[in-house]
Amino acid sequence: MSLTISIANQKGGVGKTTTAINLASSLSDLGKKILLIDLDYQANATTCMGINRGSFEKSVFDLFTREASFDEVRLKTKNELIDVLPARTLVQGIEEKIILDSNRDYILHSMLANIKDDYDYILIDCPPSLGYITTNALMASDGVMVPVQCEFLAMDGLTQLLNTVRLVQTKKKLNHETLTIFGVLLTMLDARVNSGYQVVNEIKTYFNEKVFHTIIPRNITCSNATFYGVPVTVFSPKSKSSIGYKKLAKEVIRRHEQG
Ligand SMILES: Nc1ncnc2c1ncn2[C@@H]1O[C@H](COP(=O)(O)OP(=O)(O)OP(=O)(O)O)[C@@H](O)[C@H]1O
Ligand SMILES: [Mg+2]
Repeated sequence: MSLTISIANQKGGVGKTTTAINLASSLSDLGKKILLIDLDYQANATTCMGINRGSFEKSVFDLFTREASFDEVRLKTKNELIDVLPARTLVQGIEEKIILDSNRDYILHSMLANIKDDYDYILIDCPPSLGYITTNALMASDGVMVPVQCEFLAMDGLTQLLNTVRLVQTKKKLNHETLTIFGVLLTMLDARVNSGYQVVNEIKTYFNEKVFHTIIPRNITCSNATFYGVPVTVFSPKSKSSIGYKKLAKEVIRRHEQG
């Protein structure tokens, strides 16, 4: 059965986009069919998948304003197992338009209902905020993956995120649907810095078995890959971060299959 996962944390720069593109790439290496949805105005996931910003007419935000259909927005990528709903930069006022929609929390949910089963995994790269866009992503998801950077103040803002998750869980329950905390992913661990391990312990104490065994190491190759518009798992498959994301993909499949 298909699984939809929002990759969310309203804190900026914690590795959401890096996780979305590398998990998509690593899951496709294992034969899984993926839809990657870029919900961030920065359009980083779109660019990192090698999609030129000028090369498409309609973006995912045209779905939100109901100015395009799913098929008009969906793009194929160089990887035949990964499709993308691209984001466009410099889109302003989307949240203001969404607020006027009577079905505002369910736009993405309704959109995905018809196509969900065409994919093994739908991964949603959320923006660094907790507005209607992120709520839409959570409403449309079966689970949320929370990347947490192994740095000072890592826990900051997690309470707010968890409160939003709880609100969405309550709404979904009314439709007999669920949203689980699929997992907490520790990212950018610098093996030379002690405080990183303190964060690992703190997060494990708080989230227990929800924390993925895989920890993504800080690795310069990972940020370099961004410049070439490819996931690091393609750019440098043997780098430490690639190995991390490949392990994560296996863990994700195991968790999914174990329910
Ligand atoms: N494992 C890693 N090692 C080194 N650099 C990394 C790693 N993961 C991510 N980065 C870099 O850290 C920065 C932030 O990562 P990313 O864009 O994935 O975070 P984000 O949570 O999506 O940010 P935003 O909130 O702005 O959307 C990027 O420059 C990225 O290349
Ligand atoms: Mg991002």
